[in-house]
Amino acid sequence: MKVLILYQSFTGNTELVTQRIERTLRATDITPDTIKVRKEINVELYDYDLIFLGTPVIQWLPAKPILEFIRSKLEHHRKRGDILPTSPKLPDKYAVCYCTYSGPHTGVREAVPAVKYMEQFFEHLRFSVVGEWYIVGELRNNEILATSGMLGDIRGRPNENDLTNVEQKVKDVVDKIRCQKSRSQKDLPEDFVPKPLQFLSMNVDLANSFKGLVGTLKSTSSVDEKTQALIKAVLSAAYKCKDCLKFHVLEALKHGATDMEIRDAFYCGTPLGGTPYLAFAFEVLEELDLV
Ligand SMILES: Cc1cc2nc3c(=O)[nH]c(=O)nc-3n(C[C@H](O)[C@H](O)[C@H](O)COP(=O)(O)O)c2cc1C
Repeated sequence: MKVLILYQSFTGNTELVTQRIERTLRATDITPDTIKVRKEINVELYDYDLIFLGTPVIQWLPAKPILEFIRSKLEHHRKRGDILPTSPKLPDKYAVCYCTYSGPHTGVREAVPAVKYMEQFFEHLRFSVVGEWYIVGELRNNEILATSGMLGDIRGRPNENDLTNVEQKVKDVVDKIRCQKSRSQKDLPEDFVPKPLQFLSMNVDLANSFKGLVGTLKSTSSVDEKTQALIKAVLSAAYKCKDCLKFHVLEALKHGATDMEIRDAFYCGTPLGGTPYLAFAFEVLEELDLV
């Protein structure tokens, strides 16, 4: 897994968190590239499977170098055609946005816009955001706000406890992605053809027009590909086509669906499909090791 850490830090708090992220990644056999952000840095974001972006919160937003970096990268990717209507998720592209903040006036609420801003950047690039972390950091050189703000006495933060929490979150993210990757790559070969299609293929014209229909539906839909795959998986369960169900669930995984999203999609169909539908879906999901 290729991992990039981009961050900014003025008084060292975000740097401490960043160092802990790095250390934890190394312990899981990942050697990340770490860059302290300036407006213009020459990095190809799509080369990475997982990107961490960290900032101190400055007046509710990311620090200026991060804001400038985001704007300049957005422009670059827009020109290159990477930003698409409905932002369909790319498979195996993940991001974590984190900040350190002091929250002297309104607590974590003043850090939320900063992290949400960074998240939007990744969602526009079609990455799946798998973490949104808020870590308390002492407001340096301001004893009053560091001891009597909304969060009380925050001197010495982030402390060892904060950093241990970060460590755990990093491990969880890496586990989740590794698990997702192995899922989306296993069980079915790349050229897997569900049985109904195999049958259709006995008539070449029929098979071609079916493929044409599927392709047109995919490329003209305003619904992202993950959701399309989930809808098809639910319909496959209602019509009791095991092969189709497997195929579409694995498609959904490839497009970044989580186990929980897959389960929730099947739950959605229950009022119409009833318990026989749910039992069938459960059986196949069990075979795929998803429940
Ligand atoms: C100019 C300035 C503005 C800040 N604005 C906010 C803010 O709006 N909300 C907040 O929670 N913390 C704010 N902080 C506190 C920092 O976000 C916090 O101390 C952070 O941990 C600093 O990270 P760093 O040591 O990596 O630079 C501000 C700090 C400075 C210096």
